[in-house]
Amino acid sequence: MSFARDAATHAYYDARAGEYDEWYEGEGRFADRDRPGWSAEVEELVRVVDALPSGRTLDVACGTAFLTQHLQGFAVGLDQSPSMVALAQERLPDGLALTGDALALPFADRAFDRVLTAHFYGHLVPEERTAFLAEAARVASELIVIDSAPREDRPLEGWEQRILNDGSEHKVFKRFLTPETILEELGEAGGTGETLYEGRWFSAVRATLWTNAPSVD
Ligand SMILES: C[S@@+](CC[C@H](N)C(=O)[O-])C[C@H]1O[C@@H](n2cnc3c(N)ncnc32)[C@H](O)[C@@H]1O
Repeated sequence: MSFARDAATHAYYDARAGEYDEWYEGEGRFADRDRPGWSAEVEELVRVVDALPSGRTLDVACGTAFLTQHLQGFAVGLDQSPSMVALAQERLPDGLALTGDALALPFADRAFDRVLTAHFYGHLVPEERTAFLAEAARVASELIVIDSAPREDRPLEGWEQRILNDGSEHKVFKRFLTPETILEELGEAGGTGETLYEGRWFSAVRATLWTNAPSVD
């Protein structure tokens, strides 16, 4: 069971790149979805990202940089999908977008002030979560996680069917997370944090990761 190292999942997101923002913007296949308050919450998320203090931020699994583009300071977006990265670079004229593996980040220890990841953490299976959190703690001391909040019409976790505009069908692993759950998991990985946003559709937290903190002896 895999998400971040699954070739079919990688191909699915690469194929989805050009239509990905329809999910955020309620267009195309998402125009008919009954999602009360969705657009207002997307705007809230943008505000959360925009309000983060300026710094060197790495957005892991940045997708089209829909959120990344609102970061203050130097932003780097990393994604496995070349098509996503091409779109992200257009949105980051003063930043950088590159292809790479979220579970083996191509950066030196402490290269960033912060790692941000949106709608990626909740897709990871347990061993991928462990690998991702270790990498995040290696390259930065702060982690922002943005993800989908629990919904009454979906199980908290499971395999979801996804259909692209060309009619092709795909499956991805997905969890729906409250800020409390994310913070609890980050706590188990050695972090301490706070809720940045708790909505009907989205959850966002900030945590300090201590894995690489200097020892006090
Ligand atoms: C649901 S999208 C999230 C995109 C964006 N962060 C957002 O919130 O709109 C998940 C992203 O994870 C990327 N991804 C999957 N596995 C990856 C990996 N091992 N390394 C980097 N990116 C990966 C996919 O290409 C896709 O763009």
